This record gives sequence, C-alpha cells and structure tokens, in this order.
Amino acid sequence: MRTPIIAGNWKMNKTAVSAVEFVNEIKAALDAISGIDKVVCPPFLAIPGVAAALAGTSIGVGAQNMHFEPNGAYTGEVAADMLTPFCQYVILGHSERREYFAETDDGVNRKIKVALAHGLTPIVCVGESLAQNEAGETVSFVSGQVQAAFAGFNEADAAKCVVAYEPIWAIGTGRSANAQQAGDIIASAVRQPLTALFGHDTAQQIRIQYGGSVKPGNIADYMAHPDIDGALVGGASLVPSFVELVQNAV
Ligand code: PGA
Repeated sequence: MRTPIIAGNWKMNKTAVSAVEFVNEIKAALDAISGIDKVVCPPFLAIPGVAAALAGTSIGVGAQNMHFEPNGAYTGEVAADMLTPFCQYVILGHSERREYFAETDDGVNRKIKVALAHGLTPIVCVGESLAQNEAGETVSFVSGQVQAAFAGFNEADAAKCVVAYEPIWAIGTGRSANAQQAGDIIASAVRQPLTALFGHDTAQQIRIQYGGSVKPGNIADYMAHPDIDGALVGGASLVPSFVELVQNAV
C-alpha cells in the first residue's frame, strides 16, 4: 500500500519573508491532514526559514533543483549537502529545468544518485510535449525518460524515489490531462518500465504523482485512479486553498 504524496512546487515565487508568512498561515490545517505525505518546495533562499517554521510538523520540505556534483567550482549552483539540514525531498528534472536550463536525461540520472547518497528523496519529473503527445509519441518518449533517469540503480534505491508524470502541455495552462488517460499513461509509460527495470514488487512500491493544472476541484479525480499516488502542484500550491486541495486528496 503506497502512501500518497502531494508536493507543492512554488517555482520562482515567494521571498524568504512571504514564504514563512504563507506556511505559518497554512501549517496547522495542513499538519492535521493524515494518511498522506505533504511537502512544500520553496525557492532556495526561503528554504531555511520555511524549514524552521515547519519544524515539529508532519509537513516535509523539498528543493526544486540541485547540482549533480557534491561540491566545487560551479558558480550559482546548490549542492546536496547544502540542502540536507533543511530538506527531505528534491525535485529533479522538472520540464522547466529541461527546457530553459538544458538539463539532460544523463544529468537527471546523476542528480538522482547524488540525492539518494545524501538521504534526500528525489521527485523525478518526466512528461511529453504537446507535439509529442499529438504525434502519438507519449508512451515511447516518457518510458525513455524513465529508463534514462533510473539507469544503473538497484531495487532498494529505486524504491526510495517518487516519480512525477507531468505532461508539459498541462503545466500552468489550466488544461489538465483527463484523469483516466493520465493514470493509464502512468501505468504504461512509468510503472511498466519501472517493472521491467526493477521487478514487480519494487515498481509497486514507487509512488507516482500526476502534475499539470491540479486544483482543489480536480485532485479527487486523479486520486481515484489506482496508479496515481498524489500530485506535484504548481500554481495551486501558492495559495491557502492548497490545504483544501490536500484535504480533497484523502
Ligand atoms: P501547475 O504546475 O500545477 O501550475 O500546472 C505543475 C508543475 O509544474 O509542477
């Protein structure tokens, strides 16, 4: 039985001050929701303050990115050991990172290794573009991303990861994917390749989220699909009704 997980990806929103104000506003109600893992992923500068504000609650903290080298001459980058005092999770390979910052499958694979070595839970993002979707390439493309991301891992490491399937055309567009279709793609393009790589038992343990225009009003549809174990939420995680979204997921 997989514990569902909802993570809020704040992207490049909220300052160190406004982030703490926001979590102080929602934390009691969010903390009270049981049966589901709850995570917020603020921008780097807000992470220490948010982690301090959430100390002692059941709400986890994640980063939105991390470098694949442990330390060194990488101007502007953030390493895993800088995150571990504050974070339990890290989003890796988000489509915005792949598109605007030239992240590759190989880089994502290396980041997952470093995250796991530091005890961070990676939230590994995959998903197809509108053009790929319309060309009927979704399953082959997304399963290729999954195979590349997880190349070289053993079952125990793979079982610690979370995967987020996010069709790029549904991110921030208000155009969410049909829950049945999204769940079926998760089954065939994410869980199936994970089964081929790591076997049935391990693949059944891995939590797979849907992401893309998830809102309080549609989360229940996604959660009803047996292969969807939660959501990675962007815009709807920036406002107090994120609590309602999580309530509607359980
Ligand atoms: P959205 O973003 O919920 O605003 O569509 C999701 C994401 O990019 O993780």
